[in-house]
Amino acid sequence: MIIPASDIVLKNGHKIVLRSVRPSEAQLLLNHLIISHNESYQNLNRDGNYWGKVTLEEEEKILTNIENANMRFMLGAFDGDRIVGGLGIFGSDPGTFTRFTGMLGISIQKAFQGTGLGTAMMKYAIEKCKESGLHRLELSVRTYNPEGIALYEKVGFRRIGTLTDTAFIDGKFVSEYLYEKIL
Ligand SMILES: CC(C)(COP(=O)(O)OP(=O)(O)OC[C@H]1O[C@@H](n2cnc3c(N)ncnc32)[C@H](O)[C@@H]1OP(=O)(O)O)[C@@H](O)C(=O)NCCC(=O)NCCS
Repeated sequence: MIIPASDIVLKNGHKIVLRSVRPSEAQLLLNHLIISHNESYQNLNRDGNYWGKVTLEEEEKILTNIENANMRFMLGAFDGDRIVGGLGIFGSDPGTFTRFTGMLGISIQKAFQGTGLGTAMMKYAIEKCKESGLHRLELSVRTYNPEGIALYEKVGFRRIGTLTDTAFIDGKFVSEYLYEKIL
């Protein structure tokens, strides 16, 4: 689905536009994913190296599939013609019983962290998820990520439990908290 533009003002007065990343903007998104995953890979599921190898055609296809799916979207935070934050709602196929659950992932470039951008993106995404008919959101966050934990609890996610040693990063197993929000 396509999310319309919403203008927001960050705590530092900077203006950002939140809207869907269109398939024709795949390179902008890849640029963001490479930067944010290089900076914050310990908190994410892949590193920047991975995103550097994804081709433009592959990313266009991913964005086209997301855009064509009900209850799924890729929200971009646009600083002019640059993407500085991304929030995706992903999930299982329309034919499955779990289709009303969306899996949420978010990454914001370091220069824009702590500015209220995460809060604004989460609130806008939750509003659009509700409008789309989605029933449940799910996400996991590393136990050592206080910014992520604070953000999710601030917008009403509930901690379900701990996924022990669920990821292997820099030579060691790390744990995550699982969170959900019923819409
Ligand atoms: C986690 C992330 C999305 C948060 O976004 P953000 O724009 O930094 O968040 P906000 O500025 O809206 O802050 C949200 C809350 O987090 C908390 N917070 C922000 N910075 C913090 C810090 N340095 N330490 C502890 N808590 C912090 C505050 O409680 C804040 O709420 P408040 O503004 O009402 O005080 C962002 O930092 C990010 O993308 N980090 C790297 C990737 C990542 O961790 N993704 C999530 C994976 S699960």
